[in-house]
Amino acid sequence: MIVLGIETSCDETAAAVVDGERRILADRVLSQVDEHRPFGGIVPEIAARAHLDHIDRLVAEALTEANIGFSQLDGVAATAGPGLIGGLMVGVTTAKAIATVHDVPFLAVNHLEGHALTARLTDDVAFPYLVLLVSGGHCQLLVVEGVGNYRRLGTTVDDAIGEAFDKAAKMLGLGFPGGPLVEKEAAKGNPERFTLPRPMKGRPGCDFSFSGLKTALRRAIETLPGDEPSARDVADLCAAFQAAVGDVVADRCTNAIKTFHDIHPSGDTLVVAGGVAANTALRGRLAALAQDHGLRLVAPPMHLCTDNAVMIAWAGIERLRLGLNDGLDFRPRPRWPLDPDAAPAVGAGVKA
Ligand code: KG4
Ligand code: ZN
Repeated sequence: MIVLGIETSCDETAAAVVDGERRILADRVLSQVDEHRPFGGIVPEIAARAHLDHIDRLVAEALTEANIGFSQLDGVAATAGPGLIGGLMVGVTTAKAIATVHDVPFLAVNHLEGHALTARLTDDVAFPYLVLLVSGGHCQLLVVEGVGNYRRLGTTVDDAIGEAFDKAAKMLGLGFPGGPLVEKEAAKGNPERFTLPRPMKGRPGCDFSFSGLKTALRRAIETLPGDEPSARDVADLCAAFQAAVGDVVADRCTNAIKTFHDIHPSGDTLVVAGGVAANTALRGRLAALAQDHGLRLVAPPMHLCTDNAVMIAWAGIERLRLGLNDGLDFRPRPRWPLDPDAAPAVGAGVKA
């Protein structure tokens, strides 16, 4: 079984080919980060146009890399949500056109499902397992019980965690995307010089909130003497920020692990996915936490944690095996919760 995957929901244009033996036959990702950098964040119109400019070429390159033609495909999968509508339309329309012309099934994949199922491609993880999904657009704790079967334990009520890193970096004049820059500064800083809050810590449940932390960081910057924070101030503030995020994540995950074990007493795996999983300090916290609770931590390789089309092709394979293909009338969904039964998070800036 060979599936082409297409990802265009945010600021990466990507195409990949994966087979049913868990082999990645092609993996092409084009980042638009340079086009968005002057604006300090993602501009939806620029993203949509860039997807349109590049998707056909990337698909062709992916097939060449996989050394196959369209006729060898068993299905075409595209991210159909959640995400920016302009980009979703580009990817979904491309996939539907290929599926129609070559008479193969079209698979509408939820981007979060792509992230959540990647650990099955890379590490053959069995259901059920717990996933912490942390990226620029998402911040969720999910129990993955099967393909299409997710229980959301918690989500952010305002910013996603990567978004919080990006905003912190912007306030400190560090550039975009901010996560890696904050991490680099934090490594040089003293996390104890500034005291920042740990929003949600100690509360029941598994939801996240980062707006209070962001505001506290802004206040700390404003109270510094002089016009600009010094290099030492920046490093210490980054260290304090990263330590606060780490404490919050550890606290929320502890509650999630308890709930996971209440539902599935023999569940033994915690998966971390999304771009923020690149953060070494955070990974360290999660590894320690998993060990304390007798879980193994699975972190897919970084290029499969950040946005990519391999995860979409793989989710397509998982769905195709179960006959879960979609009709050509499937419309992209800017908002698309993985767990429709989860209570909506109050005040949510959530996209899913
Ligand atoms: O998964 P991803 O590539 O794209 C989506 O948002 O879906 O994640 C990108 C996010 C950005 O917000 C970026 O700042 C953050 O992941 N990130 C990090 C690190 N590397 C990337 N955040 C903290 N520490 C890092 N080392
Ligand atoms: Zn993502």
